[in-house]
Amino acid sequence: MRDSVLPPHSGGSHIQKEYKEGEPFDWRNVHDVFTWSKSGQVNMAYECIDRHVNAGKGAHRALYYIGKGKAITYTYHELQSEVSRWANVLRRYGVGKGDYVFVFLPKHPYGYIAMLAAIRIGAVVGPLFEAFMEEAVKDRINDCEGKYLITDQSFMDRVNKEEIPSLRHIFTTDSGNDTTEISIVEEARVESSFSEVEWVDLEDGLNIHYTSGSTGKPKGIIHAHRNMIQQYQTGRWVLDLHENDVYWCTAHPGWVTGTVYGVFAPLLNGVTVVIHGGRFSAEAWYQVLEEAGVTVWYSAPTAFRMLQAEGEDLQKKFDLSSLRHILSVGEPLNPEVIYWAYETLGLRIHDTWWMTETGAQLIANVPTRTIKPGSMGRPIPGIEVSILDEEGSPLPAFETGHLAIRTSWPSIMKEVWKNKQKFNSYFPYGEDWYIAGDLAYLDEDGYVFFQGRSDDMINSSGERIGPFEVESKLIEHPAIKEAGVIGKPDDVRGEIVKAFVTINHGYDWGEELFKEVRLFVKDKLAAHAAPREIEVLEELPKTQISGKLLRRELKKREQERATFSS
Ligand code: WT7
Repeated sequence: MRDSVLPPHSGGSHIQKEYKEGEPFDWRNVHDVFTWSKSGQVNMAYECIDRHVNAGKGAHRALYYIGKGKAITYTYHELQSEVSRWANVLRRYGVGKGDYVFVFLPKHPYGYIAMLAAIRIGAVVGPLFEAFMEEAVKDRINDCEGKYLITDQSFMDRVNKEEIPSLRHIFTTDSGNDTTEISIVEEARVESSFSEVEWVDLEDGLNIHYTSGSTGKPKGIIHAHRNMIQQYQTGRWVLDLHENDVYWCTAHPGWVTGTVYGVFAPLLNGVTVVIHGGRFSAEAWYQVLEEAGVTVWYSAPTAFRMLQAEGEDLQKKFDLSSLRHILSVGEPLNPEVIYWAYETLGLRIHDTWWMTETGAQLIANVPTRTIKPGSMGRPIPGIEVSILDEEGSPLPAFETGHLAIRTSWPSIMKEVWKNKQKFNSYFPYGEDWYIAGDLAYLDEDGYVFFQGRSDDMINSSGERIGPFEVESKLIEHPAIKEAGVIGKPDDVRGEIVKAFVTINHGYDWGEELFKEVRLFVKDKLAAHAAPREIEVLEELPKTQISGKLLRRELKKREQERATFSS
């Protein structure tokens, strides 16, 4: 019999030494860590890099890249020099405080250097997911009129310059035939390794991530430099980062996890960040864990499930003894996976919950707490959670309602780009409570159990997909008349994208057209947004009065079918 709870690790964590369970926690306690607490000015890149160099830790390894070819290492000192050189190039071409600089690069040190260089000179960085296709790239840069883009020649066929008129300069990490593109690596070589830090205010813009809801195009969520307070502290208390840790967050910085917990939180804590270029393969991932000697590992349930499905024989071929702490985020972590890790690796997987909008973890299984598999954990110190009913009143334990966080916390979003109405929609019951859009209940000990979304947002492999964006793309295909898109439950990916469509006259639905339509979305938008299933209907369910698509109906239909067929 499996135990219904997993006991805490046996000590040694920061939070065990620094926090007594149940005590209130004031985020201002964290301010002293940073230089700005003395000067009143701030810069995330400085706190991530220079602070450690100034403290005599310049020789410590900051980045460790494993990908094609030889491994690449940057010490904190080397990272400081390289970021400064790039910052000097950007400055020379006019990039300055408050400018939007998009970074569209693979998982490679250049992507990290590009982001930190832009931040060093006060720009707002917009990391783009490496698998975005032309329209996903265009929509995002156009939305906030991004002036600068740092990318790679092999990505340029997905950058339609003519249709992004706001772009003043494109920097590329390698050189191509187009002389209007600036080869940033080459130009950085001749720059000084010293550059002034652009000191900014805590409230100044730091990064923008586009994220999907159930309606409209993705919205630009803007975060401020003050995020460092909570990102540093959760890196310390939730990720439990110690100076000599080798830390691997598997997310690409184009997703907020890859930026906050792939770049900021680990560098603020002065650890070694592992970067792995390349796609998922169980063998390659185990290889990275072994070769880099990863001690702290942050990934997502879909990846853990895929590793589990590969079986124990493969896992046993690798020496994974360096692993000490495993964490998960992005989608529900099923108990089977927690038991699998516990039984094969002897380690618990610590679930964490947060969102693009929240800027850092809010609910987690911190190392000192008992894990109840199936629960995301409890609010971290300094955070208060409640479950509210439709009127905004708190519900008792075990009743499902809207997951709400009491405002405010250091890393909450600064704004939604040019969309005050969207920003306000997160506070439907007044400004005391931030409403996540998730449904959940609490148990008698305050553990949070995720129950789904209250809107139509789709979560496939931890990647957030807005049905509207996919529907809009589908109907651009000549064969498709109307489309309704939902998430269909899936054992490995959590959900898959499923489309219901009506077809225009003169088209024959079949395998061939399915493939063509799927590829159409994949090529224009992104692979993760392309429907894995498309079903043709005579008509789509709609509301009688306004003719609005009823995705809920489609979901119900899918659920009923699943019940009847199993
Ligand atoms: C949505 C946010 C920034 C974290 C990565 C995703 C879902 C997130 C969990 C979890 C169940 C989770 C929620 C949330 N989600 N973490 N531990 N268990 N669901 O960020 O793309 O902004 O998506 O992801 O539904 O609202 P995101």
